[in-house]
Amino acid sequence: MSFPNKRLRRLRRTPALRRLVAETRLSVDDLVAPLFIREGIETPVPIPSLSGVKQHTRESLINEVKELNSIGIPGIILFGIPEQKDSHGSQAWDPNGIVQLALQDCREAIGEDMVLIADLCVDEYTDHGHCGIIGEDGTVNNDQTIEIYGKIAQAQARAGADIVAPSGMMDGQVRAIRNALDEENFEETSILSYSAKYASGLYGPFRDAVDVTIADGGDRKTYQQDWRNGREALAEIRADIEEGADMIMIKPAIPYLDVLSKARQITDLPIAAYHVSGEYAMIKAAANQNLIDERIVALEHLTAIKRAGADFILTYLAREIAEVL
Ligand code: PBG
Repeated sequence: MSFPNKRLRRLRRTPALRRLVAETRLSVDDLVAPLFIREGIETPVPIPSLSGVKQHTRESLINEVKELNSIGIPGIILFGIPEQKDSHGSQAWDPNGIVQLALQDCREAIGEDMVLIADLCVDEYTDHGHCGIIGEDGTVNNDQTIEIYGKIAQAQARAGADIVAPSGMMDGQVRAIRNALDEENFEETSILSYSAKYASGLYGPFRDAVDVTIADGGDRKTYQQDWRNGREALAEIRADIEEGADMIMIKPAIPYLDVLSKARQITDLPIAAYHVSGEYAMIKAAANQNLIDERIVALEHLTAIKRAGADFILTYLAREIAEVL
């Protein structure tokens, strides 16, 4: 007698059984909402490329943070859009730079109830749109850039950031930032490093959101990762951990679940994944044409990211999904 064993099917029979044996659970605790704060606007500005997402004023940002807190979202990551851009991105570390002001506002409004993460990069602040300083040879100069990252980290910590998140993929950035923070006694400020960040085509909507165009049709392929490489991501992650990262990040998420899963095997530190603007925009666009059920695909994406090994997810879906959960 050779009956097939139907054990696996039996456990899928009812929603309650499926709930009981689910291996992965997506919770509101897993979600970090990316928020945009823009200097010099009177009312929030909708971002056409990211439906449902806005550039906030200082006032509307505070309200948004309070609302996210009330639905249980544990953290936000802030991106700034300054009025003035220059070659060095000096608004990124100016004490009156828009992100520094917004961090202070949020801290005052919400106390310690929300984790405040500051994206740490200069691309939103430079007139050429690169994530670093352009050296004499016309290319991004790694070492000059990480010195500036240290100054930005200090300014963000001073303004109240719990976590600084360097996203520029410069070598040695984590060590430079850790040293700069410790020098000013910000030993409690954590570093979430965008360790494995790919030169992805999925950042398009974000660049519209932050008003960034890379000069002369340039790209970030000399500092962000080549999407053909997986092992290289592990080398990047190991380097960041060795330099003192408290948490690491993989970005984007869905095309790099293999990297996430391998990262999970080499570190016990918290791992974040960034479900980026293009991943969000693709869901919205397909749903708009009734090609997919938005809510189901959103849950499927975010759950898959957790299943692959992420501890938390930066996502523009945070608010909608928190409401569903
Ligand atoms: C760089 C930065 C980018 C994103 C987050 N931080 C853009 C880039 O590298 O060009 C993209 C996020 C997204 O697409 O949602 N400061």
